[in-house]
Amino acid sequence: MILPHGGKLIQKEVLDDHFLTLLERTDKMPEIELSPWGLSDLELIANGAFSPLEGFMNEQDYISVLQNMRLSNGIVWSIPITLAVTAEKANELRLGEEVSLIGKDRKVVGFLKLEEKFHYDKDLEAQSVYGTTDKDHPGVKKLFEKGDVYLAGPIYLVNRPTHAPFTQYLKDPIETRKMFSDLGWETVVGFQTRNPVHRAHEYIQKCALETVDGLLLNPLVGETKSDDIPARIRMESYEILLKHYYPKDRVRLIIFPAAMRYAGPREAVFHAIVRKNYGCTHFIVGRDHAGVGDYYGTYDAQKIFSNFTKEELGIMPLFFEHSFYCKKCNSMTSYKTCPHNDDDHLILSGTKVRAMLRKGEIPPPEFTRPEVAKILISGMKTKTDN
Ligand code: ADX
Repeated sequence: MILPHGGKLIQKEVLDDHFLTLLERTDKMPEIELSPWGLSDLELIANGAFSPLEGFMNEQDYISVLQNMRLSNGIVWSIPITLAVTAEKANELRLGEEVSLIGKDRKVVGFLKLEEKFHYDKDLEAQSVYGTTDKDHPGVKKLFEKGDVYLAGPIYLVNRPTHAPFTQYLKDPIETRKMFSDLGWETVVGFQTRNPVHRAHEYIQKCALETVDGLLLNPLVGETKSDDIPARIRMESYEILLKHYYPKDRVRLIIFPAAMRYAGPREAVFHAIVRKNYGCTHFIVGRDHAGVGDYYGTYDAQKIFSNFTKEELGIMPLFFEHSFYCKKCNSMTSYKTCPHNDDDHLILSGTKVRAMLRKGEIPPPEFTRPEVAKILISGMKTKTDN
């Protein structure tokens, strides 16, 4: 089994006596309400998906991640994992104290042992992580809406989100690792997605699956931008696709409850590392991975991997060219394998497909499986009706 990033799977969800005592005196503790993004970070630190992180980053790690894509101890890490509060809130908190972390419903979800508070430079973070300071970028927009001070220190999770209605697809890294081992899979390719699985996605997944033992279809179900297709609709489309077109014993569908950053290249590295913690040995990076608009070059998310050695990354990225259906080849193909012109290629933008679905038009079967299209159309209709 592949080693977790940093060598050890972090577990921060232990309800021992210490936490029971803490839970009893939360009314006397300062509290911070977490955003859905913060809540998902808390859960993913606690369940080991973000190993080797044990809490929200301190300034030294944060600066090192921005400048070198590494933690201060040299371990590869490309995205800051931080907890922002307003300067006023930060002033009320004392270093060394335990702070209770609460959800929107005011329920205590965890604790932070406050070790550090620091101001940060939003322009610097935007430019380093997202490659732009343009506030039209959804990640940059979020960054500029956050408080001005980061709080750092180890965290503990005491009440995790249920992830209903996807609970049956929820597994922690320790559980997916056991699942792969029970299935006898020695090599597993991870697939990140925030979209329905169209024929191009299916093609690259199956190309990868030709050479490894199993596929972890690992859709991100945390916060996404409002015009992305909601997770509930996507999950239904994955279920039907797997039922009709994938070998049952070679694929597992498990949710990835993270927030989408839209950080392109840096997020591709982050996505790969996290899937390594889930036990994947390989990770698919196709065209414009985790991209948005035209902020990143088509293959920037592949090129970034040349900054790291195979050993320090641990997981093997599998790069795929832009794939599509070619009428002359009469099959799915890519620029790497097809000799024909774009006139013969069926390429539809995400915006165009969403517009078709909203109008109730079924995209061609060479673009998306009809069973999937049907679910997306009825899902989009319900979304609009609501
Ligand atoms: S992402 O933001 O989660 O990366 P998406 O769900 O569209 O978006 O993509 C999932 C994975 O499939 C990414 O690795 C992406 O690069 C890849 N991908 C998407 N469409 C294509 C395509 N037409 N050809 C090759 N790779 C693709």
